[in-house]
Order: sequence, then structure tokens, then C-alpha cells
Amino acid sequence: MKQVDDHVKNDFDIKNLDEDHKEIFNYLEQLQAIVSESKNHVYAVGILERLVTFFLAHVIKEEQQLQKYLPTGIVEAHILLHQTELDLLDESISTLKTKLTSHNIQIITDQLIKEFNNHIYRYDRDIIQRLIKIKNS
Ligand SMILES: [Fe+2]
Ligand SMILES: [Fe+2]
Repeated sequence: MKQVDDHVKNDFDIKNLDEDHKEIFNYLEQLQAIVSESKNHVYAVGILERLVTFFLAHVIKEEQQLQKYLPTGIVEAHILLHQTELDLLDESISTLKTKLTSHNIQIITDQLIKEFNNHIYRYDRDIIQRLIKIKNS
């Protein structure tokens, strides 16, 4: 793991993706923080809309890196995963625009945390390790 971290430090593009991943969790923490504060529920949709904008910019960068270095099959599967998450974010925004309740914010936050944990710590981690390997070979 130490070796991976050193390589990440030396690679601007990969370090940049890594920073983005932390930022994605910051948005989800903001969402979690307002669940119990009913006066702040109005901010939930705005947080999600900013997350969509940020995530879109992130996936463009990430997909460019993948397309440059990884086999088509892996790239296509990963692009599909990004699309699934963009759909989930869109659905979440629609739900909250229709019914902005503490219950819905909590359900959506839990669902998004689960989804992004799986995406970032499992799939992105795997592709980043592949990228590092290829870039260093
Ligand atoms: Fe990804
Ligand atoms: Fe990512």
C-alpha cells in the first residue's frame, strides 16, 4: 500500500482523481449533517445538484484516463457504472423535489453513501491500481 501511495503522489492525474473522491464524500457528509436539522432541509436539493455537477466533471476526467490506458471492456463497464450513479442522483433529486422530508433525505443519503463506498473503494480503487501499474511499466 505504501508503494501505491508514493506512485499516487507522483502522478498528477491520479492524485487529482483521489482528491475528487474525497470531495464526493464531503458532499454526502453535508447531506448527512442536515438530516436532523429541519430548517436546513431546503439545502438538500442544492447539495445534490452541486454533487451532480462535480461528479460529472470527475467522471469525464476519470474516463479520459481509463480510455488512454485500459482495455475497452473495462472502460465500457466503468462508464456504465458512472451512468447508473448519475441516474441514481437524478432520481434522488426528483424524490426530494417532490417530498422533502427528513426520512427521504436519510434514505437517499444512506443509499448514496453505500453506492459511492462501493464504487470508490472497490471499482475505482481497482482501476486506479491498474492505471498505476500500466503507467509504471
Ligand atoms: Fe469511477
Ligand atoms: Fe471516481
